[in-house]
Amino acid sequence: MEALTEVFTPLSDRLKNVSVSLTLKIVERAKALKAEGVDVISLSVGEPDHNTPEHVKRAGIAAIESNFTRYTAAAGILELRKAICEKLKRDNSLDYSPSQIVVSNGAKHAIANAIQAIVNPGDEVIIPEPCWLSYPDLVHLAGGIPVYVESRIEHGFHLQPDDLARVLTPKTKAIILNTPCNPTGAVLSRPEVEALCEVLYDHNVMIISDEIYEHLRFDGREHYSFAQVDGMKDRTVLVNGVSKCYAMTGWRIGYSASSDLLSDAMLRIQSQMTSSACSISQKAACEGIQGDQSSVPAMLKDFSRRRHICYDILSKCKGVKLSMPEGAFYIFPDVSAFYGKRIGDAVIKDSVDLAEHLITACHVAVVPGAAFRAPHCIRISYANSDEKVREGVNRICDFLNSLR
Ligand SMILES: Cc1ncc(COP(=O)(O)O)c(C=O)c1O
Repeated sequence: MEALTEVFTPLSDRLKNVSVSLTLKIVERAKALKAEGVDVISLSVGEPDHNTPEHVKRAGIAAIESNFTRYTAAAGILELRKAICEKLKRDNSLDYSPSQIVVSNGAKHAIANAIQAIVNPGDEVIIPEPCWLSYPDLVHLAGGIPVYVESRIEHGFHLQPDDLARVLTPKTKAIILNTPCNPTGAVLSRPEVEALCEVLYDHNVMIISDEIYEHLRFDGREHYSFAQVDGMKDRTVLVNGVSKCYAMTGWRIGYSASSDLLSDAMLRIQSQMTSSACSISQKAACEGIQGDQSSVPAMLKDFSRRRHICYDILSKCKGVKLSMPEGAFYIFPDVSAFYGKRIGDAVIKDSVDLAEHLITACHVAVVPGAAFRAPHCIRISYANSDEKVREGVNRICDFLNSLR
């Protein structure tokens, strides 16, 4: 065998623009400090602090006990795909057949499948920013080119149709839209969804509609899917799952609903990459989607209360710019007024620097806005108890006020 030459790299080129998620790094850091006995308040996590509802857990246990532990159809068990179709009818007035549903290992996997199915190398994919951190890397993995369009805090982080129109080019193949939005908490109304579709209508552009926070909306705000807009259903890959609304992040069940062409393509990809999602989790997800829904409003009530706790404290902190979250469980303040200020000899340069200081000096974990392509901001997750949220946000404000 010949020796490897110096220029040889075992890694493929497609990894060049792919990084480890910054959120996961912060979560690991917080865990390590906690393990050392430090009282870290974690306001960085992307999952409900609630437990999976009892009836859902029982469905998982029943699946194990009845030996429902083998491979399933790659697209997911028919029972779950039927339940998803009924949910899409019940909540979104959308008609899909079970063959148009692909159950995946979480919503992230469904988004990855969609991007792999749609994007050719060199295709442009529009991503409104601030954006969930996985979208750009998933586009890069497919050889696509992310094209960013800003949604501004002045507009409550709602993407404006004129801004969208400006970034469309003949190379645009797809757009990834996320409502309710992580990290901003923005929820698009039906007229806003329709106005964005009007811009897209005459272009050959696919929509990947990430609706994973669908049920987490405040003040009676509606959820309107891009697939519900006249003429857009077959051009939309609707992505959803059970992770957030049923506190089932570790069960890893997400799904896509799309045209026959797209669902067949995504199934081919998934069947070669991972086969089906976990059989036990699929049974539990059926119960989540079809069973007692009372855990959802209860969780929403908790999040709504905590959102007010965050907003009230942060709005009293001079220099912080805020937009009231309308959904999900994050608040995304603009803290750029504090960049360039000092703590002792150290200067706070940017959001990464600020997040580092917050965890080391105040033992509060947040995610730097840079992770979401919004370096002016930090993301505070209020998926934690009222007391921890209050204490954590107070610590953040005390720290900001101490900067000179
Ligand atoms: C916007 C957004 N989409 C998708 C996901 C992934 O969800 P899942 O855990 O079901 O893969 C997340 C998780 O944080 C998210 O915030």
